[in-house]
Amino acid sequence: MPAKPEVRILNTPAELFQAAAAEFAALAAQAVKTSGRFSVALSGGSTPKSLYSLLASGSISNIPWDKIFFFFGDERFVLPDDPESNYRMARETGLFSKVPSDHVFRVPTEEKDADAAALNYDQTLRKFFSLQPGEFPRFDLVLLGLGPDGHTASLFLDAAAPTEKSCLVVANWVEKFHSYRITFTLPVLNRAANVAFLASGPDKASILKEVLDNESADLPSQKVHPSDGKLLWLVDQAAASGLSQLERR
Ligand code: 6PG
Repeated sequence: MPAKPEVRILNTPAELFQAAAAEFAALAAQAVKTSGRFSVALSGGSTPKSLYSLLASGSISNIPWDKIFFFFGDERFVLPDDPESNYRMARETGLFSKVPSDHVFRVPTEEKDADAAALNYDQTLRKFFSLQPGEFPRFDLVLLGLGPDGHTASLFLDAAAPTEKSCLVVANWVEKFHSYRITFTLPVLNRAANVAFLASGPDKASILKEVLDNESADLPSQKVHPSDGKLLWLVDQAAASGLSQLERR
């Protein structure tokens, strides 16, 4: 049985993003001291935007920006300037202005189709991490969000990606969004040294309770358990409002 995740409940969204930024800075310092670099897979959607803006603001000190490398745990199959693009969302926060321009690895969604974009990104990971065949990349930090249906990254219950065991990156059609999405596979997420979910607001209260409380729900976000790493949930009181005292680990 995988270890229970650490669940840290912060009073307000502002405190949640401060805590997330402090965790980012601490993990960055630790990774750079150990390996000379900090590899981060960013999550998309709306929740992490406040974290990326806070990091870009410069108010968090001692972040070794010149040693940080950004990737995306998932991306919508749209061009990088599309309003739906996770890359565009992160870029507009100013986060990428903090690092050298060749330290940001976006999903090449200009490829002819989603599968070609996924294959290209898969190769990018293999090269960056100098992987042997069958090896998976070990990110220092993977940031994840929680969808209202229990998805995370672009791993959805009714799509193929959650069962993928050998590829690093796959494309899958997501019916509910009527679009293709490119996503890290579970083996990549579960190889990470640190995985941090961010969940904020009352809309996440019921799904967060389901994920943390109902082990039989079989949701994609419940399948994230780093085999040799730390799993952390950073949530605010509004998102945690459905949790019992027991679940407030
Ligand atoms: C995406 C994300 C996705 C997101 C959740 C939560 O591309 O949308 O990677 O997994 O994290 O859907 O989204 P919100 O933060 O907008 O609630």
